[in-house]
Amino acid sequence: MALVLDKEHIPRHIAIIMDGNGRWAKEKRLARTEGHREGMKRVEEIVDAADALGVRYVTFFAFSTENWRRSKTETAMLMRFLDIFLQCNLKRLIKNNIRFLAIGRKEPIPEYAWKRLIATQAQTKENSGLTLILAFNYGSRQEIADAARKIAEEALAGRLVPGDINEENFGEFLYTKGIPDPDLLIRTSGEVRISNFLLWQLSYAELCFPKVYWPEFKRQNFEEAISEYQRRTRRFGAV
Ligand code: IPE
Ligand code: IPE
Ligand code: MG
Repeated sequence: MALVLDKEHIPRHIAIIMDGNGRWAKEKRLARTEGHREGMKRVEEIVDAADALGVRYVTFFAFSTENWRRSKTETAMLMRFLDIFLQCNLKRLIKNNIRFLAIGRKEPIPEYAWKRLIATQAQTKENSGLTLILAFNYGSRQEIADAARKIAEEALAGRLVPGDINEENFGEFLYTKGIPDPDLLIRTSGEVRISNFLLWQLSYAELCFPKVYWPEFKRQNFEEAISEYQRRTRRFGAV
């Protein structure tokens, strides 16, 4: 059944924790990396769907700072997949006027993969349509600690007065500077946790935990999550 979405209340920013690739593959008796490969196709589809609906920002959690705890084989493959994904999608990003941004720490991403992230950002930076943000080697506590360090350095250099720090300008020291906070967070696979993702930025996001693995998350599931968002009442502390 087709969903009717209220076009006036499409979330401006949707953040997605793409989870369940490994379990999806396991159920199909495939290697975990096959789950990641299939998952990449869903990213393309969800970007198209978001763009068509008028969403302005989509952030995908693709690799966390904690994911280095996985096997060398799996992390190496995920670096390769990132490179291939960006290489294959550059033309589409340009054609669809999509701006690409990466958030996360540089080390220890291999040089070739880091260069691809930087190049893709540079090649799409003038685009004015949807902003596609990839959280890659991203950890929210690290992001907040990095912000605290930058603020301390600014203060020491005499460019900033500690008493002037507030919720608004603190955000300018985060990797997500200039990007509005997510309105909706979707985490697939049935896990109900945040896993060190956008802790500051998700303060008032609506949370949605569909029970499908990321490789099976299609446009219909995405629209269902938006529909659920549209049935919520956001109060922001007021009554
Ligand atoms: C999400 O799927 C992708 C990454 C974290 C890179 P997982 O690989 O975590 O899949 P599960 O949770 O093991 O099923
Ligand atoms: C979160 O998924 C990170 C990404 C989706 C990139 P994980 O599968 O790594 O999270 P945990 O370990 O289940 O919390
Ligand atoms: Mg997982």
